Formats: sequence, structure tokens, C-alpha cells
Amino acid sequence: MTAPVQDSLLLRALRRQPVPRPPVWIMRQAGRYMPEFRAVRAQHSFLTVCKTPELACEVTLQPIEPIGVDAAIIFSDILIPLEPMGMGLVFGEKGPYLPEPIRAVADVARLRTLTPERDVAFLGEAIRLVKAALPAEMPLLGFAGAPWTLAAYMIEGGGSKNYDRIKRFMYNEPQAFDALMTRLVEMLVAYLRYQIEAGADAVQIFESWGGVLSPHDFKMYALPYTRRVIAGLQGCGVPIIAYMNGAGQVLEDLAETGCDAVGIDWRLDLGLAIDRVGSRVAVQGNMDPCMLYAPVASIEKEVQRLHGLVAGRPGHVFNLGHGILPDVPVAHAQAFVHAVKSLEGVAVRG
Ligand code: CP3
Repeated sequence: MTAPVQDSLLLRALRRQPVPRPPVWIMRQAGRYMPEFRAVRAQHSFLTVCKTPELACEVTLQPIEPIGVDAAIIFSDILIPLEPMGMGLVFGEKGPYLPEPIRAVADVARLRTLTPERDVAFLGEAIRLVKAALPAEMPLLGFAGAPWTLAAYMIEGGGSKNYDRIKRFMYNEPQAFDALMTRLVEMLVAYLRYQIEAGADAVQIFESWGGVLSPHDFKMYALPYTRRVIAGLQGCGVPIIAYMNGAGQVLEDLAETGCDAVGIDWRLDLGLAIDRVGSRVAVQGNMDPCMLYAPVASIEKEVQRLHGLVAGRPGHVFNLGHGILPDVPVAHAQAFVHAVKSLEGVAVRG
């Protein structure tokens, strides 16, 4: 007998099987736009929530019923595995920063190897708690950052405007850069396998900053390593979503990494993206997160317009094109999800 979760809309859509309506979830669906989340954060730091399985579980579950999404995503952060690798990690007012960034070959050599069951046991435990609490048919997503995006944080020491430090490093120290990326590939395979063994039903790899590279450099310095992570997960039996902000020109290359689905931002036309890669992979996205500031009627219209672009083709997962913004009204997140759920039985306009 197969597990009920295998029949969920999300897993069926990720396998590009027919579904009565597209599944929907929201990147960063557990977050500051929800008063329940802010109440937990008033008591505990962000890292404490991530590292305390009961709190991470509570926050993961917060959006499920009120927002009505079809999947949960485990509450954590792409930067979490960097701390046990030996990087300092601080979540400040203006976002995360790493006070001891990688600047030289010797810094790469000093990195420690992540042993997930020892170093991030809290994450495995949080996944088990969430799976036990969720309805049997509700999928749980695990996730990680893509190697280039993580390397960017490690070298820049935080967010960046021009990404000049990582670009300097990769152009001038190609061997050290390759050594760093190889360490990240090994870490990510172990880290994602650990999440899958703990109960994640699908995983998403976030290439949030890959779009700052030229298409040529993306294919040379980022993509081969993401491909190696995905190759390392073969046989795990769960779908892999490769999300990229700014995939534009490299969409086909992203679709050929061995992933099951690509996640795209709103700068790509959804219909054209499916034309380009939809026969090989599912496509996730791609409403502009700022559409959630629009009146509910406009949100509904936009959901219907996007659904029209899919034109009945299998393999679409509804989502925003990037994370939900912290000051979005809860009612508008609910309206977005409700509009997707109302698509059942709606004739598809070509
Ligand atoms: O989707 C979910 O609900 C799961 C939780 C999740 C978080 N971060 C929680 C979080 C996920 C999937 C992430 C991924 C993540 N983290 C990415 C990739 C996605 C993307 O946005 O491109 C990146 C680049 C990060 C790094 C990061 N973490 C940044 C840049 C920030 C600061 C910006 C912000 O939104 O505050 C964080 C902090 C963070 N991660 C918060 C949350 C809920 C806010 C922290 C707080 O509560 O104060």
C-alpha cells in the first residue's frame, strides 16, 4: 500500500500527473506576516525557534489551517548548516550576517564536515514532530540553499549589492572556490538526505542569488555543483524542486540538473516557461509577491490569469515567485490560496 501522501495534489503535480486543481503553498509561509509567528518571536530569537524542535514544529504548522495551503515547509533557514561547519552566524535586525567570512584558501581548509545526526539533530526531530502532527495526506517539504547561494553568504558575509567578493574569489582563486563548492556539495547531500530520512516528502533547493551571474558564469560556477547535489540524492525517492530567482535565460539548464520541478520568479511568463521546460519538469510559481498588496478581486483575477497560461498542461504548482513579504495582510494570503482552490472545475481558457 502506498502512503496517502503520495496521492496529495503536490506530489502528483510534481510527478506531472493530472490533478483536479493545482496544489498551492507559499514560500516563507511561516513568517512575520502572521500574528501567531510574531507572538512566538516576541518570546524567542529566530535561531532559538530554528533549534528548538517543539517551537520549529509549532511555527511550521501555523499557516496550515488559517492560510489553507496544501503543503508544509519545515521551519528553518538555508544558513543553519553553515554554523556547524564553523561559520559564525548572526540574525540581526537587517537580516543574517556571518562575522567571519571566507576570504582566503586557508579559510576553506578550516571548514568542518557536517554530521547531520550530531550537528542538526534538532532539524530531524522537528521534521518528525511535524510529520506526526500533520494529516497523513499533507506533504512536508525539506529544503536547503544551493551551493552558489550558500558560498555567496559565506564569502560576502551577508547579503550583498554587487556580489563582488564572491566573484573576485571565483575568478582569482578557482581552486579554492572549487574546494569550497565541493565541500558544500558534500554537506548538502548529507543534509538533504538527513531531512528525507526524517520524513520530508519533497525537497526544495533555493538558488536565491544565482541570478546575479551572467548565464555563462552561472553554467560554469554554479550549475555543475547543484547538479552534483541532485545526483547525490538519486534513489531517495522524493521529488526535488530547484527554485531560482532570475532563472530567465538559464531555465533549460536548470531543468536539466536532474530536478523534478523548477521554481521560477515572476519575471518569466508562466506559459512560456512551461513551453520551454514543461515536457521535462513540473513548474512552480510564479505570482509576484507584491500582488498580495493588491485588492482581493485583483489577486483572484491574477490567479485565474496564471491558471489560463498553464492551459490545462500537467505539472503546475501554484506559489509566489519569491517569499511572502512581512507586511502582507493575512486576509490576502488567504485570498490567494482560496482563489487557487476555487480553480477546481473552472474551464481553462487557452
Ligand atoms: O518558507 C518557510 O516558511 C520556511 C522557512 C524559511 C526561512 N528562510 C525562514 C526565515 C525558508 C525556506 C528560508 C530560506 C531562506 N533564507 C532563503 C532562500 C529563500 C529566499 O528568500 O530567497 C534565504 C536567502 C535565506 C536567508 C535569510 N534568512 C534572509 C535573507 C533573512 C532576512 C530577511 C527576512 O525575511 O527577514 C532570513 C531570516 C528569516 N528566515 C526569517 C524567516 C521567517 C525572518 C527572521 C525573523 O523572524 O526575524
